[in-house]
Amino acid sequence: MNDIAIESILQEERKFNPPDQFVQKAKINSFEQYQQLYNKAKKDPEAFWAELAANELHWFKKWEQVLDWKPPFAKWFVGGKLNISYNCLDRHLNTARKNKAAIIWEGEPGDSRTITYAQLHREVCQFANALKELGAKKGDKVAIYMPMIPEAAIAMLACARIGAAHTVIFGGFSAEALKDRLVDAEVKVVITADGGYRKDKVVALKTQVDLALAENSVPSVQKVLVVQRSKELTQMQPERDYWWHDLQKTVSADCPAEEMDSEDLLFILYTSGTTGKPKGVVHTTGGYNLYTHMTTQWIFDLQETDVYWCTADVGWITGHSYIVYGPLSNGATTVMYEGVSRPSNPGCMWDIIEKYGVTIFYTAPTAIRAWIKMGDSYPNSRNLTSLRLLGTVGEPINPEAWIWYHRIIGAERCPIVDTWWQTETGGVMISPLPGAIATKPGSCTLPLPGVLVEIVDLDGNAVKTNEGGYLAIKYPWPSMMRTVYNNPERFRQSYWEHIPPKDGQYFYFAGDGAREDTDGYFWVMGRVDDVINVAGHRLGTMEIESALVSHQAVAEAAVVGKPDEIKGEDIFAFVTLEGSYSASESLANELKQHVAREIGAIARPGEIRFTEALPKTRSGKIMRRLLRGLAAGQDVAGDTSTLEDLSVLDKLREAI
Ligand code: WTA
Repeated sequence: MNDIAIESILQEERKFNPPDQFVQKAKINSFEQYQQLYNKAKKDPEAFWAELAANELHWFKKWEQVLDWKPPFAKWFVGGKLNISYNCLDRHLNTARKNKAAIIWEGEPGDSRTITYAQLHREVCQFANALKELGAKKGDKVAIYMPMIPEAAIAMLACARIGAAHTVIFGGFSAEALKDRLVDAEVKVVITADGGYRKDKVVALKTQVDLALAENSVPSVQKVLVVQRSKELTQMQPERDYWWHDLQKTVSADCPAEEMDSEDLLFILYTSGTTGKPKGVVHTTGGYNLYTHMTTQWIFDLQETDVYWCTADVGWITGHSYIVYGPLSNGATTVMYEGVSRPSNPGCMWDIIEKYGVTIFYTAPTAIRAWIKMGDSYPNSRNLTSLRLLGTVGEPINPEAWIWYHRIIGAERCPIVDTWWQTETGGVMISPLPGAIATKPGSCTLPLPGVLVEIVDLDGNAVKTNEGGYLAIKYPWPSMMRTVYNNPERFRQSYWEHIPPKDGQYFYFAGDGAREDTDGYFWVMGRVDDVINVAGHRLGTMEIESALVSHQAVAEAAVVGKPDEIKGEDIFAFVTLEGSYSASESLANELKQHVAREIGAIARPGEIRFTEALPKTRSGKIMRRLLRGLAAGQDVAGDTSTLEDLSVLDKLREAI
């Protein structure tokens, strides 16, 4: 584990009270109200969650037991039956929400679509029936490899409707990365599109699927369902590939939601860890539905008339919980955008806010930093007065970016919710409630009701106020990951053994360093393991190293994060070459390309440095701390006492 960089702790004293205008209309509008809720949950968490589950969700059958906690394995609402697609769709149909916009979609080349709850219900039922025709049934695994089009959300809800678990794979992943995930999740049906639009380009997704499935390399996959989006030419393989628009003509729009057990698998989502290949994070139905439903209400102070826009991709957990399930379960209007902000279209985000009158805007610090670079004239020349609340997620936000967001986008009128959470937690864990909690730029403030957080050392002892330590969670919550798919032992090792249980108290280890200040506010400093966060994308340094050494020229590789003004961190790779190869600019480019092919463009190293040797300890461990220092341009002279061969350092300095 990496040392916790206590020196890097921010000294930020500014505090912003929830704006009066906001407080007047907010549902939870005082600190006392937050405290009451928090204390109620703390006193009797099971009763707290049970009351909400009964009042907020539709159950076909009530549970027998709220929580079954056999550490580290939790079951919530044991014996309860429900369906999340029913909660997101059917139950809104007998209400005034029937013809309300469920999804407002803005497509890249100027396309757009508004889908009401009634229409969404119909399409999800048809899609579900199409999946059934292709042989998918309850308990099967279905992969979704799609651009950001409404059919991505429709496909997720259709899977949930028939009880097939989905695994959404980000459309930016390469065929190789896709194949690994299809194999691990034992996927039966793949849902994809011919192509999607991203950053002024068409990404030919179906071609990647064909590559991943070539030579029967994923024997479990039987069918591929293809949505036509870009009119990209694609070879349809008979008996395997089917067009969605063909099936849609024949399938019925009647598909009752399957009664799922609360603990039935809802989805698997792959994420990077310290070791090995990405882990399949397992989420189940009831607890996840409840927690994402409640947190969407709390964090976004959701009101019936809100137009809510989260800019994430459905390939990540943020897209799952806060584009699709959380908002739709609450009957909200959720905006989906196919593209991403980019320099060639610097005003596009602000145009969308103006066009649809977006009231809540949820995005990532890396995007904010890029917008600052593009210039204030773009947001300043749009009408953003519809906005009432702003949010951020994915990485620590630097106070400068926070203040810009507050002034230029929020016009000092909108509270900012800085939300800390992870793929594993399923929903937001630490965040201000915008009408109740004063914010400080760079702090995610206080834990949500039902969340017990403590900053501890590796023995599980609480550290002092303002001292750096490890962020740990001390009590189960409904949307916690249940296990690593097919690997409960890895679940235990990755999350529950770094800080060993003490007197029956278990600690969920998040992998982040943090501190708690005198107001009890949390400041997350970033990962303390070998996970790096590049433009809000989570990557394991080992995955990138494995990709590098799979190239014939590479003998050894060590990857570290280098601080980057916009991306937060960039990928910096140190590489030693096999004897017959010599360092060159073109080889560096080839290696970058190779990593992009193996994993995806998001993992392409920003810099590659060739070196004759890597710094190792006497026991042969690569000294990453030293490499991180070198990559960041720091003086690492004082850091070398355990280095086996001191001359390596000079060679590395030459390489830099
Ligand atoms: C980081 C994304 C600081 C953190 C939802 C965590 C944050 C990892 C914040 C999870 C935040 C997320 N402040 N750091 N508000 N939100 N992180 O699984 O390091 O893609 O462990 O989930 O992102 O990334 P993941």
